[in-house]
Amino acid sequence: MDTIKEFNEHVMGSYGRYDLVLEKGTERTAVDENGKEYIDFGSGIGVNSLGFCNEAWVKAVCEQANSIQHTSNYYYTKVQADFAKKLCESTGYEKIFFGNSGAEANECAIKIARKYSFDKYGKEAERNIIITLVNSFHGRTMATLSATGQDVFHNYFFPFLPGFVNVKANDIADLKAKLTEYEGKVCAVMFEFIQGEGGVIPLEKAFVDAIFEECGKRDILTIADEVQTGAGRTGKFLTSQNYGVQPDITTLAKGVAGGVPIGICMAGKKCCDTLTPGTHGSTFGGNPLACAGGNAVLDTVLAEGFLDEVNKKGEYFRKKLAEIPEVEGVDGMGLMLGIRLKSKNASEVCKACLENGLLILTAKTKLRFLPPLNISYAEIDKGIEILTKILG
Ligand SMILES: Cc1ncc(COP(=O)(O)O)c(C=O)c1O
Repeated sequence: MDTIKEFNEHVMGSYGRYDLVLEKGTERTAVDENGKEYIDFGSGIGVNSLGFCNEAWVKAVCEQANSIQHTSNYYYTKVQADFAKKLCESTGYEKIFFGNSGAEANECAIKIARKYSFDKYGKEAERNIIITLVNSFHGRTMATLSATGQDVFHNYFFPFLPGFVNVKANDIADLKAKLTEYEGKVCAVMFEFIQGEGGVIPLEKAFVDAIFEECGKRDILTIADEVQTGAGRTGKFLTSQNYGVQPDITTLAKGVAGGVPIGICMAGKKCCDTLTPGTHGSTFGGNPLACAGGNAVLDTVLAEGFLDEVNKKGEYFRKKLAEIPEVEGVDGMGLMLGIRLKSKNASEVCKACLENGLLILTAKTKLRFLPPLNISYAEIDKGIEILTKILG
């Protein structure tokens, strides 16, 4: 209790926290300060993609710390070059910008989209609107909050950045109507393939295809926010690969460096040279420790058979969840899953799970599961057993 008291006296109260002090972790098990163990179905909101203290990841980060931990972006590092090359080769993108968080990755995407149109169509064209989706989540900075299509996040912080227009997810008519209403003024459409914070809601394939068709006709950039869905989470390295499309820009963060802060903005041919010296930057962006962690994650996730296992485990997890009588339905893809409950309150279930040694997440009224990508079948079984007991 002393830690919690000290913490609350000195750390700003911007989060609702559980009364739990986590001290360490081994593989996929978290341990609190009293030595109690927890199965982890949340992985720090999808960040610890290889679980806790994964051997290869620890080795890579520690070796890097012992070599060079930071340089400014006035200089080059091999670890950053290697990471960027691996990302490009595995995704088909041309070039990368490195930041430190999902919001920063999206800020970069927004800036590229606006500058792409500015460079090509001129200032007077005012071609700067970015269409985003109702119920989306793109981050907590002012631009990404402006992009976020959920009023609940908009309290207090007015005024927001102009130039964002929302379209209803999976509503092709609304998409077409907004593109017509703002004809000639839209520079990008930005979306999550699966709305994560919005409640684990996948976009329909027909809607995604319509985005690409309509944007293609008008030279509007497509921006996929894969901060939560990317880096192997849904059984392919990028969820766009599950939908069979290649957005002009994709952003990554969370699990891509396995627990070191990172944000990645990847751009294709059309706009990979839009940012020029002085137009964007980040002191910590491309930090060698983050890139070393990222290289270890990529080496593991892209190794032969790993993503097939993610798919198999995702199917197994989904089936087990669907068998629980209180579960009304399971949504999501791979190891990004959400369940609709028949009558129970998700937050209360989450608290009860914690008391019983299981860490899970909520998303709106659903329970959300983002386990480490290398979770074992035995750990899935153990966690589901606890959940089943609580759901009654
Ligand atoms: C889809 C999506 N985009 C952006 C963000 C913001 O990422 P960060 O908190 O790293 O800034 C999140 C975080 O949950 C997210 O899920």
